[in-house]
Amino acid sequence: MKILGIETSCDETAAAVVTDSPKGGPAIVSNVIYSQVKAHAPFGGVVPEIASREHVNRIVGVVEQAVEEGGGFDELDGIAVTSGPGLVGCLLVGVQMAKGLAIARGLPWLGINHLEGHLCASLLADEPPEYPHLALVVSGGHTHLYHVPEFGVYHLIGRTLDDAAGEAFDKVAKVLGLGYPGGIHVDRLAQTGDGKAFALPRGLPDKKVFDFSFSGLKTKSIEMIRNSEQPMQGQRLADFCASLQEAIADVLTKKAILAAKKLGVGGIVLAGGVAANSRLRSLLEERTRNHGLWSFSPPRPLCTDNGAMIAAAGWSRFQLGQKTAWDTKVRSRWPLDDLS
Ligand code: KG4
Ligand code: ZN
Repeated sequence: MKILGIETSCDETAAAVVTDSPKGGPAIVSNVIYSQVKAHAPFGGVVPEIASREHVNRIVGVVEQAVEEGGGFDELDGIAVTSGPGLVGCLLVGVQMAKGLAIARGLPWLGINHLEGHLCASLLADEPPEYPHLALVVSGGHTHLYHVPEFGVYHLIGRTLDDAAGEAFDKVAKVLGLGYPGGIHVDRLAQTGDGKAFALPRGLPDKKVFDFSFSGLKTKSIEMIRNSEQPMQGQRLADFCASLQEAIADVLTKKAILAAKKLGVGGIVLAGGVAANSRLRSLLEERTRNHGLWSFSPPRPLCTDNGAMIAAAGWSRFQLGQKTAWDTKVRSRWPLDDLS
């Protein structure tokens, strides 16, 4: 079965084709991403109107390339597209493209939840993670813990009460003058920094609470940068980035492990753009091992938004015989534990 996946929920215009892997899961045949980062960089964040227009301009070329490299339209068996959560004007571009193609080619289509897409990046691995497990989804808009007993079933265990982890990275990076999106710049600079150099707060440290809070860390970080007597540059900047990254990775991994132990699952699956963070990946690996748990982090290019993860989610749902009705709406909010 060959499935086309389309992703336009935010600022990446992406499409990919997956097919059956010899091991029985989905495998990538093509994966094309057009990043709009340059268009939004002057504004320090995603401008929804610009994002929609960029998707309209790019979607045909991106889909054509993915399908061509994926073996052509004739080989496709279905089309999967992100239908929420995300920016409505952006989602509409991908969904209309998917529906138009589905009508023209007589193919079934599936609206995919973007967060389920992030989690399905793990299905593209040679050795996909086992069920049941705990999933930690960390992106620019989400920081959520789910108990996942089987594919497609997600029970919310904890979530951020204010900022998402990616938002904390991006907002502090902006004040540091590092450009947008800032997470990757913080990660790069942190490589030569000392994560213990700055004492930054950990939100909601109570071990019984699985919710997160990053607004205190964000506010304290910005205050320290603004009140700093020496300029934040050179080694000081590297130390600050390492400390920020450490604070975020520390809280995320601690709570995920506590939740996994409480639920009695064997391991933790990391997903979402922030899953590309080097310290979060290594700390999760180290701490899960110390607690007798396994951890799974998708390859870094599959952590940030892409079409392959949506195609993988679609592949799995088409295998179950599912398809979406023509009149299904796009959804700006769509909790993963409400997939009906
Ligand atoms: O999943 P994603 O591509 O888009 C959303 O669905 O939000 O996640 C984007 C987020 C941004 O906040 C970005 O700064 C963050 O992922 N990010 C990182 C890294 N790479 C991307 N954060 C920390 N370290 C990274 N290496
Ligand atoms: Zn995303």
